[in-house]
Amino acid sequence: MRTIRDIKLFENIPILVRTTLNVPVEQGKVVNEYRLRRALPTIRYLTERGAKVVLISHIGEKGTETLAPVAHALGRLIHGVSFFPETIGVRVRSAIRGLSPGNILVLENLRRNRGERMNDRAFARELAALADVFVEDSFDTCHRAHASIIGVPEILPSYAGLLLEEEVRELSRALTPTHTALAVIGGAKFSTKEPVLTTLLEKYDHVFVGGALANNFLKASGQEVGKSLVSITDSARIKKLLANPKLVLPIDSVVRNGRILDHGPNTIALLTNLARKAKTILWNGPLGNYENGFIDATNAFARAVASSDARSVVGGGDTIASIENLGLLPRFSFVSTGGGAMLEFLTRGTLPGIEALNA
Ligand code: 3PG
Repeated sequence: MRTIRDIKLFENIPILVRTTLNVPVEQGKVVNEYRLRRALPTIRYLTERGAKVVLISHIGEKGTETLAPVAHALGRLIHGVSFFPETIGVRVRSAIRGLSPGNILVLENLRRNRGERMNDRAFARELAALADVFVEDSFDTCHRAHASIIGVPEILPSYAGLLLEEEVRELSRALTPTHTALAVIGGAKFSTKEPVLTTLLEKYDHVFVGGALANNFLKASGQEVGKSLVSITDSARIKKLLANPKLVLPIDSVVRNGRILDHGPNTIALLTNLARKAKTILWNGPLGNYENGFIDATNAFARAVASSDARSVVGGGDTIASIENLGLLPRFSFVSTGGGAMLEFLTRGTLPGIEALNA
C-alpha cells in the first residue's frame, strides 16, 4: 500500500484528504474529539510540508448534519483551519486556490450530495477536480463503496494516510493472534456480526458473544429470554455457530421487566478469568444495554483487559466511549477508529477503500 511517505511534492500542492470527522455533536458542540485527535498525524504530516490540505468527510447518516462545528473543534487542536459550507464546485475551487500553504480547509458534509453514497462518477470527478493528490485516511468508512472512498482514487494519484496505515497493520496482526486468544463481540444485530464470528472462531481460542447479540444464541440453545431483544428468527445459522466448542456464552444475566439488559456477576468473573489468561484480546461491541445505563459488564471487562498483560485491540463507538469514560484507553494496545469497518476488515482482511488504493 502506497502511503503519504511516498509523496514527493508537497509545497503549495492541494491535497484532498478523506478523513474521519464523523464525531458526535450535541447542541452545536462536538462532545467527543477522539476521532479528530486520531486524524491529526496525517494532517500535520501534510501541513508541515507546506501542502494545502482539503479535508472531506461525512457526518451522520442522512446528510442533514453540518461539519461546521467539527471544523471549529478541529481548529482548537491544530492551527490554520477554516470551513467552507459547500463540498464541490467553482466557489470551493476558488477557496482552495486562496488557501495558504500549510493551511487546512474543511468542506461540508459529503453526504449532502446524493452522488456520494451512489458512487456517482460525475460527483467523484468534481471531488477529484479539487486537488492534485488524494489521501485516504478514513478507515471507519473504507467498507463503504462511496464516491469519496472508491471513486476518487480511480482518478487521482492516491495514498494511504498514517491512520489508515496503522489500522491495517494492527488489525492484520490481530488476525494472526498470539495464543491464548480471546475475542469478545457484543452489540445487537446478529446479521452484522455473523461473518466476523465465523472468522474469529477459526482464529481465536475463545469467542465470547455478549450484549443483546447473545440473546439470539441463548434462545437458540433453548434458554428463556422473555421479552429480550432478539434479531434473528431462523435459528439454523446460529446453531451452526453454537456447535463450535470455542464459542462462549453468558452464564447469568441482569433482567428487568422480562428483558435481559446486562450480564451478571458470574459472567463477569468468567470473562475476567479468560482475560487474565489471554495473550491477545480482541473486543468490539458493548456487553450490556450500554445506551440505557446498563454498563456494569462493559466496565468490568474494560478494567479486566486494562490490567491484563495481553495485547489488546478494541473498536466500535460505544465500546471506545465506555473505555474512555473510565480513563483506560491508554492501557489498550490498539484502539481502532472503525466500528463496522473493523468487523469487515477482520472478516475479509481488506476493504473496498483499501483495494481502491491498490488498484
Ligand atoms: C462510523 O461511524 O462507523 C463510520 O464513520 C461510518 O459511518 P456510517 O455507518 O454512517 O457509514
